[in-house]
Amino acid sequence: MAGRILIIADGPAALSYAPELITRLRQKKYTVQVAPTAYDGPSALAFVSELAWATISGHPCKAIEKLDAEAFRQQDLILLAPVSPQVLEVFRRGKALAYLQEAGKPVLAVPARLPDAVDENPVLFQTQMPSRSRLCLGETPLELGAMGALKITPTETLLHFVDAALSKNDLQGKSALITAGPTAEDLDPVRYLTNRSTGKMGVALAIAAAVRGAEVHLIHGPLQTTLPELPNLHAISVRSAAQMHQAVVDHWHHLDFAILAAAVADFTPDHYVPQKIKKIDGQSLILHLLRTPDILAELGSREDHPYLVGFAAESDDVEINAINKLRKKRCDLICANDIRKPGCGFATDTNQITLYSPDEAPMQLPLKDKAEVAHDILNHIAKHLAD
Ligand code: CTP
Repeated sequence: MAGRILIIADGPAALSYAPELITRLRQKKYTVQVAPTAYDGPSALAFVSELAWATISGHPCKAIEKLDAEAFRQQDLILLAPVSPQVLEVFRRGKALAYLQEAGKPVLAVPARLPDAVDENPVLFQTQMPSRSRLCLGETPLELGAMGALKITPTETLLHFVDAALSKNDLQGKSALITAGPTAEDLDPVRYLTNRSTGKMGVALAIAAAVRGAEVHLIHGPLQTTLPELPNLHAISVRSAAQMHQAVVDHWHHLDFAILAAAVADFTPDHYVPQKIKKIDGQSLILHLLRTPDILAELGSREDHPYLVGFAAESDDVEINAINKLRKKRCDLICANDIRKPGCGFATDTNQITLYSPDEAPMQLPLKDKAEVAHDILNHIAKHLAD
């Protein structure tokens, strides 16, 4: 994603919070410029010099107090990271507020000391910021040694808010259901059957869809990845295939699209043993397994199903299996990958998929980061929904 961001940095958080944020934003190909505060006291410039800011951001740096109107006009997003009573004072006293309002660019504000900075200045936040501005609240304590601690939005979450503020919003108003992760089929209080899925692909899809404006219900099994707190991403945690099936049925209404990326267990023990199963010398144990509901196939069989996307993670005959699943489960799209290829499959950060749909030629996508693969899949869906 491309875009120009002006970061207004303040106080001791400028030392420990802003540099990591700037580095991560630059890794995501954003152009970043920093405007540190420069008042007498613990301003951003008291902690980090202009030269250091310019080096970290890769762009010349000027204190917020010295910025002109053009500096605001050039941006796509203004990021107050963090916003503090002192920053607001700078806005009140100088011309920055007028420049910011005139430029009309969205503002993302990260309160440094929840909720004081906001409580002290509700009028500024609610009435004076340009439209599409928002507060990005967070809970993570940031220890600042002798300076105490701040509560601040985790960098990872803030990055998703930035993506959302600058996204093309092409899924705004759309409602999505996404499944992710493995399921776990309990055998007794200690043992269960599961698979190697970590949920990364499904979670990447849910985040990307939320960032692009969709209202997302993510129904997930046990994940090995944390979920960001985004206002339009609603996570529903389940454990077994039967629970996932029920949760999907419960949320199966008024959807525009559904992506079933979960690696649902195909079999479950025929009964749960409430006490730990003890081994008996010389005896083997035979498990009797029952089939679980095929959630995707069940949804595909409904007449009124929304745009329906399934996955096919295969170890051989990828194309034949993908086309079979497309037909058998009556999906609109199958995302197939060959789990034997390096960089594909479970627990990797990358994936290489081919898209199969009933009326188009297969489309092979290059090996990419799962977040980028998610956007490619959503591009396909967004195009279909717009037609
Ligand atoms: N799926 C599902 N419910 C199941 C099994 C699979 O919703 N009980 C969905 C998966 O989320 C995925 C697609 O069906 O989108 C294909 O899953 P996969 O495990 O690859 O295929 P299976 O249907 O289990 O077939 P096979 O075991 O023959 O590969």
